Amino acid sequence: MSADVISLETVKIERDEGTTFIILNRPDKRNAMSPQLHMDMCEALDWAEEDEQTRVVVITGAGGNFCAGQDLKLYFRGNEDDPRKMARARRASHAWRWDKLSRFRKATIAMVPGYCFGGGFTPVIACDFAIAADDATFGLSEVNWGIIPGGLVAWAVTQAMSYRDAIYYSVTGDRFSGKEAAAMKFVNKSVPSDQLRDAVMELARKLEAKSPAAVRYTKEALRSVRHMTQEQALDYLDAKNDALKFMDPEKGREKAMKQFLDDKVFKPGLGEFKR
Ligand code: ACO
Repeated sequence: MSADVISLETVKIERDEGTTFIILNRPDKRNAMSPQLHMDMCEALDWAEEDEQTRVVVITGAGGNFCAGQDLKLYFRGNEDDPRKMARARRASHAWRWDKLSRFRKATIAMVPGYCFGGGFTPVIACDFAIAADDATFGLSEVNWGIIPGGLVAWAVTQAMSYRDAIYYSVTGDRFSGKEAAAMKFVNKSVPSDQLRDAVMELARKLEAKSPAAVRYTKEALRSVRHMTQEQALDYLDAKNDALKFMDPEKGREKAMKQFLDDKVFKPGLGEFKR
């Protein structure tokens, strides 16, 4: 049974079969991230992780923009005199943009229309996939107003961009388009803005059809081995494969082998097994 969609003040949740859109919903403020939005995003992600119908999560923004970064008024100025409020906002901000998203158990796609500035980079990088509109505008604008790309942005961009690009865009604050983001492999691809949703759904449907356990273990494995030595990776991947074999509630591996080797109704090289 899947739970009803929850209702939140600054975040909208919409379903499209097995794909759930989690939408930053402050369009009048170009989806700038307020403390309330951070708390709502934490709640939305926790809900989606447990929701049985959700196989894929798409993170995007309402009103034709992804996110104008941290809300300068509500996140920075509004918390200046209250260190406890600031600490709470920071915790929530980091929790959803990196901790929860980068360890999410289901496939995640960042769908980027319009503006994406500063702190908005972190969730794009934390998602497994990112697809942008050709005319999206990305900018590490922190330098423009006298701060550094903090809150993990500087670290995250060095993970997802070449070192030269990360330095260039962080220090100059120059903007780059969705098309340029795709050329530098910061996003998987860019498409004309009127095709953005279709391109995201094409990928989402592909992911929905895969074994959820295989998707989860594969993404966890890829993320973990990046920072391991070869010996550690070999050990870890053996253990991870064993864990998948025993923990997969669908027993996909056995099902798939039977379909290929015995029933001869499936070819692993050409698509996924019948679940
Ligand atoms: N913080 C607070 N309010 C914001 C933010 C923000 N980051 N971005 C936009 N808004 C508000 C504006 O103040 C304005 O509010 P108002 O209608 O009450 O006056 C409303 O959103 C619309 O913004 P405009 O500037 O009028 O919209 P426009 O389309 O002309 O420009 C743009 C959009 C380019 C995004 C511009 O608003 C901007 O530069 N925003 C700041 C982007 C930025 O540098 N973010 C911080 C990154 S650093 C970090 O995240 C740590």
